[in-house]
Amino acid sequence: MQFTLNHDILDKETSTCALISIFENKKLSFIGNKLNITSNNYILSAINYNEIYGKINEFLLLYNVPNIKYKYLLIIGCGKKKYFNVNNYLNIVNNSIEIIKNTNIKKINFFFTELNVYNLNIYWKIRKAIEIIEDKLYIFNKLKNNKNFFNINKIIFYIDKKYDINLVNIAIKQAMAISSGIKIVKDIGNLPSNICNSAYLSMRSYRLQDIFPKKIKVFDINEKDMKKLGMNAYLAVGRESENESLMSIIKYNNHKNYDEKPIIFIGKGLTFDSGGISIKGSNKMDKMKYDMCGASVVYGLMIIIAKLNLPLNVIGVLACCENMTGGNSYRPGDIIESMSGINVEIINTDAEGRIVLCDVFTYIKRFNPEIVIDIATLTGACVVALGDEINGLMSNNSILIKELLNAAKISGDHTWLLPIKNEYKKRLNSNFADIVNVANDNSGGAIYAACFLSYFTKKYIWAHLDIAGTSYSYKSMGATGRPLYLLIQFLLKKSKMNISLK
Ligand code: BES
Ligand code: ZN
Ligand code: MN
Repeated sequence: MQFTLNHDILDKETSTCALISIFENKKLSFIGNKLNITSNNYILSAINYNEIYGKINEFLLLYNVPNIKYKYLLIIGCGKKKYFNVNNYLNIVNNSIEIIKNTNIKKINFFFTELNVYNLNIYWKIRKAIEIIEDKLYIFNKLKNNKNFFNINKIIFYIDKKYDINLVNIAIKQAMAISSGIKIVKDIGNLPSNICNSAYLSMRSYRLQDIFPKKIKVFDINEKDMKKLGMNAYLAVGRESENESLMSIIKYNNHKNYDEKPIIFIGKGLTFDSGGISIKGSNKMDKMKYDMCGASVVYGLMIIIAKLNLPLNVIGVLACCENMTGGNSYRPGDIIESMSGINVEIINTDAEGRIVLCDVFTYIKRFNPEIVIDIATLTGACVVALGDEINGLMSNNSILIKELLNAAKISGDHTWLLPIKNEYKKRLNSNFADIVNVANDNSGGAIYAACFLSYFTKKYIWAHLDIAGTSYSYKSMGATGRPLYLLIQFLLKKSKMNISLK
């Protein structure tokens, strides 16, 4: 996709489609109005004739408008001008691309940059537009003989001369880096388990070392290493699988103080989750190939960080293995001594994510982390609670909560805070060991899972993102790349490379 800038309302390029806004009461935007005058009122008569009013979701596609060089004009309803806000803006960009993507239109003249979005500036408008466009035009083609592509290949952003062109260029650069990372996260997430196993993710991780040799170092912890380290919990989950369990560690070192404490991201990387002996039903079991989306998000995040050259020390951990059933599986009732020394009684082998993560939480203490954030498709209960549009957030630190919720708001990567309650924590006491992996009464399952994790994260500032609902969706026909938008926004702020949004 090509993104260019233009100061002219009447572009010289033909064969494009111009996106024009109309507010309620048939109020054309400033530019819409100019074009209407040029067309000798043709546009407004067409609007009247088609009974378009300007409501959100209304649209009109015009062809060959008199005196206008653009081949098409897409007039998009924007609702009430007075109340035009962030969500309306995201909405109209979404709607326009949805309409155009199945036509033959290749080039778009983007005029929504003229709109006033409450509290947000041109940087944000451009960055978000590019992120949405790239998101909407994604197709998973890797494993198809007949590859389809959408026709749109060029966006020409109209930029009023009053805007800071430098800011616009930063927006384009950052959005392109973010979108390329999102595409990688989706591609990997959508791969099936027979291709995307732990070894595959390890191989992809090692490649980063060659692409960014100055900043990134990668190494693996294999099953033999895990045995030596006492990572019995992690090992138990992957024990029955033919695919070796591998934890890939991607270290990005670019802070001006080389030894600055790192921010650590841990991604749950179950390349397939059958449930184990507590086997899942066959309905939708194919979706459990997505149980590594936490790991793929961390992988994509590391790429974006390196591309944007963020002045931070960050470590990405892909905690990969496969939960299978068979004679060598771990069992309900088994008691496992985790690396931390806490003995865990397994009640349900399908609550395996927390079993893998608990050993990773102990292992990463050696890096002396500033902050630890895990990203995991951890519980169906989180999907019941929040649906497929909202990430679940749980944490032991109120400042980190604030920072993450703020990043969620700005990025549009919707996130909601759930509590970690001490009373609930107590209900994980085991009759035979220290704790159980699933509570007796597991209503509120997303919180119980976080309570379990919190036993292992006492020594540092930690947040947990449950992305069971948001990481893939029926609507986007596969992996979504979320919550990468939220995480990169959080890091841009942390690295003080955050551009003012107002
Ligand atoms: N990977 C699943 C959670 C999941 C469910 C992700 C649906 C995406 C969609 C996780 O390992 C799991 O199976 N959790 C169990 C926990 C239960 C046994 C306490 C669940 O949610 O049913
Ligand atoms: Zn799982
Ligand atoms: Mn499971």
